Amino acid sequence: MKDQYGRQINYMRVSVTDRCNLRCIYCMPEEGVDQVSHQDILTYAEITRIVNAAAAAGITRIKLTGGEPLVRKNLAGLAGDIKALPGIEEVTVTTNGVLLKEQLEDLVAAGVSAVNISLDTLDPGMYAQIARRDALASAVEGLEAAIACPGLKVKVNCVLLPGINESQWIKIAELAKDRPVDVRFIEMMPVGLGKNFQTGFEEEVLERLRSAFGREQTASGHFGNGPAKYVQFEGFAGKIGFISALSHKFCSECNRIRLTAEGFLKPCLQYAAGEDLRELVRAEISEEELIQAVERAIYYKPACHHFEEKDSLDFEQKDMFEIGG
Ligand code: GTP
Ligand code: 5AD
Ligand code: SF4
Repeated sequence: MKDQYGRQINYMRVSVTDRCNLRCIYCMPEEGVDQVSHQDILTYAEITRIVNAAAAAGITRIKLTGGEPLVRKNLAGLAGDIKALPGIEEVTVTTNGVLLKEQLEDLVAAGVSAVNISLDTLDPGMYAQIARRDALASAVEGLEAAIACPGLKVKVNCVLLPGINESQWIKIAELAKDRPVDVRFIEMMPVGLGKNFQTGFEEEVLERLRSAFGREQTASGHFGNGPAKYVQFEGFAGKIGFISALSHKFCSECNRIRLTAEGFLKPCLQYAAGEDLRELVRAEISEEELIQAVERAIYYKPACHHFEEKDSLDFEQKDMFEIGG
């Protein structure tokens, strides 16, 4: 369905847990977070019921995220149940890749058609510094396994951390050279601990990539559900994408809502407003009422974020690991 500004909303990001096996410096504190108790997290049956209602409200694509979605038991089971719902056309997963290799076969069998893997560096020491875990080898194994999986669309996410990972931007981009992997560079959003970091910007990355790989072409077509826009460098098998929430605000084309692990439906990444669907499903409301709650959240989706205004940063009350990116 459309929101009050006429945007077609067909994509829901579902965070299945706020737990993670990494502690990325811009996302999670070193000591971890107070773990939300199991009763506060939606069960898979509750998530499936909400997705079913969302499908009735026009959602066709589901992204499973976290925290780290693969730390929750049997994610493939949930993916399969969601994929089987009427109206759901696509289920994809965003993961840090560390546990991917062992779960990949089950995820693909369940109908997952694409995975996005977070990789901010290919240097083991730097990875241990950014993710605070010595897990690069497992993440890369996850990436390699995904690339080897027939029919699976694979993307890499790299958050721009100038002064920390900028020496790696070209190396990460080169992942797209010989293999059909799209590499996306993400401007750091001032959400949660992200507020403590300066972001790098699309233009400076493009300048460096041009020096290394020559002039790019704009890639035309639709390559995912998210806000990335893509370019193609000559001789590259994959595309290079940019998710530039600050330098190229994409809110007018936003197509998504977000369900937190605790069952709160957030129509916009920045604002605290939304619908407490956990309370509704646990109050055993009717299917019709649940659909109406999803429709309300969609209809009243805010026009845009105001990350560029310092004062507006106080609005956000949740961290990235709770929202699911
Ligand atoms: P696909 O296009 O299906 O690959 O999905 P995606 O790019 O939406 O997925 P992914 O989970 O890999 O997200 C990549 C980055 O985009 C993360 O940093 C998200 O936080 C960011 N992102 C996704 N949706 C939004 C949005 O609505 N607003 C902002 N500002 N960032 C978003
Ligand atoms: N800004 C931008 N991207 C972020 N991610 C986590 N926190 C932020 C932030 N503050 C990224 C992760 C992962 C994706 C789901 O979101 O690195 O690739
Ligand atoms: Fe975990 Fe992703 Fe946050 Fe890193 S960014 S700590 S991988 S949830």
